[in-house]
Amino acid sequence: MGLKSYISSPYIKHQYEWDEIITSYRIFENDKPLNIEIGPGKGKSLLNLGDRFPEKNFVGMEKTPRCLKEFRRKAEKKRLSNIFVFHCFIEKMLEANVTDNSIENFIVFFPDPWPKKKHRKRRFLRKKGLSLLETKLKKNGKIFIKTDFMDYWVEILGTIRELRGLFLESFGKVKSWQSPFNVPTNYEQKYYRMGKEPFYLVVQKI
Ligand SMILES: C[S@@+](CC[C@H](N)C(=O)[O-])C[C@H]1O[C@@H](n2cnc3c(N)ncnc32)[C@H](O)[C@@H]1O
Repeated sequence: MGLKSYISSPYIKHQYEWDEIITSYRIFENDKPLNIEIGPGKGKSLLNLGDRFPEKNFVGMEKTPRCLKEFRRKAEKKRLSNIFVFHCFIEKMLEANVTDNSIENFIVFFPDPWPKKKHRKRRFLRKKGLSLLETKLKKNGKIFIKTDFMDYWVEILGTIRELRGLFLESFGKVKSWQSPFNVPTNYEQKYYRMGKEPFYLVVQKI
């Protein structure tokens, strides 16, 4: 499946229109630390992070046009200067357009859980995806993760222990996570309304 539609906005660029390396200078014309949110959906967390950390830049990577249209509406209203989204496939963009050791932090809030056993190999935060994030992180850079799927959370905990370059800094229930990176997301609010209790992990590159 490809990325068929093009969504026009100063805050969004399609992966097929961009063949450069992603840097703060090229996107924002400054040298603030670059953070990437994987699958920001409609962008609630991205907009909150941009607002909360004016000293950092935030780039989202999202494939779903419906979500991007909603993000565009909110971003053009809020007019932050430190947020941007690529309409792309995460894996393709990270591999081709992000330099190793260049990202301050990754944010991965509520990645697709692929609950059926036969689909679990499609989960992004398995060995391959986590190793890719590790490669792109700066030394001491972090991955902030939230999920409502306990099974996925437990799987990630196990994988981190197997990866030599990553260290588990903290984990637990989202309600007890004291961090300025703990901003609400659309899915999180939906899960709370359903009575679910999401979990978080903070992982650091050694
Ligand atoms: C469960 S939603 C969570 C959205 C948002 N983080 C939130 O918490 O509200 C997962 C998001 O990841 C995006 N996504 C999943 N796989 C992707 C991929 N390979 N490339 C780009 N985006 C992807 C989906 O389109 C979706 O918007």
